[in-house]
Amino acid sequence: MSKRKKGLLIVFEGTDGTGKSTQLNLLTNVLQDRGIPVISTCEPTNGRYGQEIRALYTDRKKVSLEEELDLFIADRKEHVETILKPALANGKTILCDRYYLSTIAYQGAAGLDPAYILSRNSFAPEPDLALLFHAPVQTGVKRITENRGETLNDFEKEEYLQKVALQFEQMNFPFIHRIDASRSIHTIHQDILNLIQPLLESL
Ligand code: ADP
Ligand code: TYD
Repeated sequence: MSKRKKGLLIVFEGTDGTGKSTQLNLLTNVLQDRGIPVISTCEPTNGRYGQEIRALYTDRKKVSLEEELDLFIADRKEHVETILKPALANGKTILCDRYYLSTIAYQGAAGLDPAYILSRNSFAPEPDLALLFHAPVQTGVKRITENRGETLNDFEKEEYLQKVALQFEQMNFPFIHRIDASRSIHTIHQDILNLIQPLLESL
């Protein structure tokens, strides 16, 4: 992965319904209140490739697995060039909902080689911190269907998510910090605040 410095890149990773977006929003508010220049963003993005990816949610078989990977990579390249790199160069703190660990886990679980997926991401700045949310897959699925009132899309089927969870479990990048996402929203938030304090001081 490419090295660069100045701002901070903090990514939120894990299976669906583990509370990534909830915690990202809470943290964004705290940083904004403290006057820290922060950008909150997500992948897939809302750009052209992100929209193509969302069109797959209801019928993933429309494209081959390689084509699906190409779309996630194209979306990330655009995101890196237009949002992430400029923000980092300006010393901003970026909070990003999903990044290349999701590609390794989801497209890896679908059958692609995790090492190959990582090699396709060599253009992407390495995160300073990846908060890897883990909770039983059923907990996440229940939160999605009951709390958010949504049905499961093609990326969220339980059997597949078990394989995705296993991929996440097997990762050992030094920038990963695992978060027990079965706890309360408040407890997790406090945990994250404590964790990032030293990083913010280093800015
Ligand atoms: P993700 O972004 O990981 O898919 P969300 O943040 O959208 O997950 O959370 C999924 C649902 O679960 C939301 O309805 C949210 O309010 C709820 N939720 C998030 N964190 C928790 C938690 N720690 N305990 C209980 N419910 C939670
Ligand atoms: P999600 O965070 O749920 O976004 P949305 O708000 O659009 O539902 O991500 C969408 C799905 O895309 C999620 O199930 C994980 C999957 N995904 C991949 O398969 N590979 C990737 O590289 C990324 C970033 C996401």
